[in-house]
Amino acid sequence: SADTAVLPLDLPAAAVTEAAPVEVTVLFGSQTGNCQEVATKVSGKLEEKGMKVTLVSTADFKPNKLKSLENLLVVISTQGEGDPPDTAIQFHEFLHGRRAPKLEALNYSVLALGDSSYEFFCETGKQFDERLAELGGKRIIDRMDCDLDYDEDAEEWLENVLNKLAASQEATPVPAAAEAAATIEAKVAAFSRTNPFEAEIYENLKMNGRGSNKETYHMELSLEGSNLEYEPGDSIGIYPENDPVIVDELIQETGWAPDELIPVNKKGDEVPLLEALQKTYEITVLTKPLLKKVAEFTQNPGLQLLLDQENDEAVKEYVYGRDLLDLIRDYKLKDLPAKEFIALLRKMPPRLYSVASSYKANPEEVHLTVGTVRYQTYGRERNGVCSVQCADRREPGQSLSIYVHKNPNFKLPADPDKPIIMIGPGTGIAPFRSFVEEREMMEAKGKSWLFFGDQHFVTDFLYQTDWQRWLKDGTLTKMDVAFSRDKAEKVYVQHRMLAQSKELFEWLQDGAVVYVCGDEKNMASDVHDTLVTILEREGNLNTEEAHRYLAEMQQEKRYQRDVY
Ligand code: 2AM
Repeated sequence: SADTAVLPLDLPAAAVTEAAPVEVTVLFGSQTGNCQEVATKVSGKLEEKGMKVTLVSTADFKPNKLKSLENLLVVISTQGEGDPPDTAIQFHEFLHGRRAPKLEALNYSVLALGDSSYEFFCETGKQFDERLAELGGKRIIDRMDCDLDYDEDAEEWLENVLNKLAASQEATPVPAAAEAAATIEAKVAAFSRTNPFEAEIYENLKMNGRGSNKETYHMELSLEGSNLEYEPGDSIGIYPENDPVIVDELIQETGWAPDELIPVNKKGDEVPLLEALQKTYEITVLTKPLLKKVAEFTQNPGLQLLLDQENDEAVKEYVYGRDLLDLIRDYKLKDLPAKEFIALLRKMPPRLYSVASSYKANPEEVHLTVGTVRYQTYGRERNGVCSVQCADRREPGQSLSIYVHKNPNFKLPADPDKPIIMIGPGTGIAPFRSFVEEREMMEAKGKSWLFFGDQHFVTDFLYQTDWQRWLKDGTLTKMDVAFSRDKAEKVYVQHRMLAQSKELFEWLQDGAVVYVCGDEKNMASDVHDTLVTILEREGNLNTEEAHRYLAEMQQEKRYQRDVY
């Protein structure tokens, strides 16, 4: 009858095969959002190939699901001294604990993000990789450890993974919907980390008063025509240029020809050496992996000796505060062939700055708070590549290469009635200007409490007039400041918190979300300890319970950190 489906004979076999699609879980553990972004891209590519993908954060992943998974891709970063991202701490603990299941049916691969200037480079990725194997999982593609310039390595890993998984999948037609989605995405996200936008500078103002030790700039950039949008808590990635003076010295020292063509990517695109050193490669940071490559390449006995020492201390001490020019001078590296030598360097990583404005309040522009980094080591002035470029070599009318870096782990609560507590000394204040401005635009009813600290009231009270206005009109409920060098005794934000522990605890009981932004090493950990103390004191918890309370807050996204 007419209802009987008759297959036209000339239809390609693939189109009629009803092969079950390969199911893949893409699990990401992200701190600043890089892993989430990469994992999202990975998922998109797998879907384009007709696979059935589940994209999930380590924060939301149910460990008891592990056993039923067939294919698992882990995209995970490493923090500071080899720790997992906040959002992955609990899953990491589970996986390494007794209760972790046997995973003999699991195929997996790990993409590890990290920074090779840290000793425990990609440590968390390594641990996941080793542990999954230990539990019986089958590693289908070797782990890829990516440095700050991860784009090309991540792509290579993905290619290998795709080939491997595609081989295990019978030919399945590409669903039309996936292709349509891909083109829409391509149109919207034209400017990205790999294709930055040239943003014109509208304003560039030094905020600290005369006599301050600090140099903090308020920058306003144009996003006009870029289609770029951001939310409070997101960052702007800036690709800085190296200081032309250092580039010049390097060229003098090596005798390289400024117009020699140098490859700038794996595809083989080339630019003149001068431009490559100014824009493409990192010349201001030394890492142990770089020293190893240089030693191998130059066969320099002195450098070899340094690397051959039993412990890492000598290498660590050497690289700290030195740059490529020092290395070349100290080890008298001569006759370096430009092309091959420059290929050993790491690509210039973008610097992230939290947005300090609300897009709703400032359509098609973004504000940033940039703290200038200058210091002296080994007889030379050292400058933060990006911050000093902004301070000394960028004026209104000029531009910066930027993109929007989404940070899903630092977000205002969806509910505008929720109370928020913001702790941001120094440049850590930036995202909170965007939070409060956004809440003003939303006419949010939720209470808000800001803790700010810096050295001196008179010279370093960043955005003072904004805070005063918002306090007056009620957008900001409460503000406590800690100026550390106005009195003989140091006062820090955590001292202000502790002095009001009762009220702060009440806010927590009311469901307040706590945000911490700024220095990671000292401030953020001291603030964390202070929160523990407040919970012990006001909540009658013992230390273990207080830690658990905070861990739960973290899990529920009621304790979010953007620290650096
Ligand atoms: P200090 O420089 O006087 O020590 C922003 O840089 C502010 O953070 C400054 O007032 C600085 O004080 C302060 N600060 C330094 N270490 C800190 C810490 N461990 N916790 C909180 N604030 C700190």
